[in-house]
Amino acid sequence: MKRLDQKFIDQTLELIKSQEKVGTGNERTKTIVNRLLEDLFNAMADLDITSEEMWRACDWLTQAGKNNEMGLVYAGLGIEKFIDVQMDWEDLQAGIENRTPRTIEGPLYVAGSPESNSYAELETEVEPNSERLYMSGVVYDPEGNPIPGAKVEVWHCNLKGLYSHFDSSQPEFNLRRAINVGQDGKYEFKSFVPVGYSCPPNGPTDLLMKSLGRHGSRPAHIHFFITAPGYRKLTTQINIENDPLINEDFAFATRSELVPHIDRVSAQEAVNYGKEEAFAKIDFNFYMVRETTGAAAGENHRIRATVA
Ligand SMILES: [Fe+2]
Repeated sequence: MKRLDQKFIDQTLELIKSQEKVGTGNERTKTIVNRLLEDLFNAMADLDITSEEMWRACDWLTQAGKNNEMGLVYAGLGIEKFIDVQMDWEDLQAGIENRTPRTIEGPLYVAGSPESNSYAELETEVEPNSERLYMSGVVYDPEGNPIPGAKVEVWHCNLKGLYSHFDSSQPEFNLRRAINVGQDGKYEFKSFVPVGYSCPPNGPTDLLMKSLGRHGSRPAHIHFFITAPGYRKLTTQINIENDPLINEDFAFATRSELVPHIDRVSAQEAVNYGKEEAFAKIDFNFYMVRETTGAAAGENHRIRATVA
């Protein structure tokens, strides 16, 4: 079939814009929405997208919203990755080096985790059959000086691949903590080595991934927010090395600088560390950058889960 004549696209875009009143509404929103509509209508014409396909898309978007999966869709389509790529570019232009790279937040943060000083135990309930993990390090400024008063927020999933709050079978804030570092900038937490996980089966994200001939799974990882007065919030993750999906994350979050080595310490050696059992050990330092005008923002104000 011959492509839709361009004049019909242009006429329709003009018709839609003709209802905009100058001086009302938000100019930025007008610019963005009109551009996206233009790109969409052109794609509909170029690809001859049918009415059936457009209504399936509408139904899919409705369901993704109902299931609260749009954050997951952003991750799975690489939109969240591309937001990072844009911010990395802004930093590059501003001459800012991220010694600890940012990577995606994902949709499963919950604000208000229990706080403690220097050390935390992440399990509110004991995870059976897990491999004990101790992770520790220092929060540094760009010159390598500790940052007293930095806060390390950490969260990860259980061995079923589920996050507390979103999985109501877990106690609230299980595997979520906030650690305030001391003068030495050090943090340490006790938990267990997490596993990878997949999108909710047969949900909108999972169905989209299958239609794209992709999987909807992530390699094992641990999430972090690092904050300190005068410094830009750092949103990042570390991966568990040797995970089979480490270079095939459906959310594209893996970065080589964020895959620390894991040491395995035997029960006999554990006493040398003041521990009572065999454990896996990760040492990882976070380097922050100072708040700088002209560079990418560290914070965004997406709606995040909170505990009522
Ligand atoms: Fe995650």
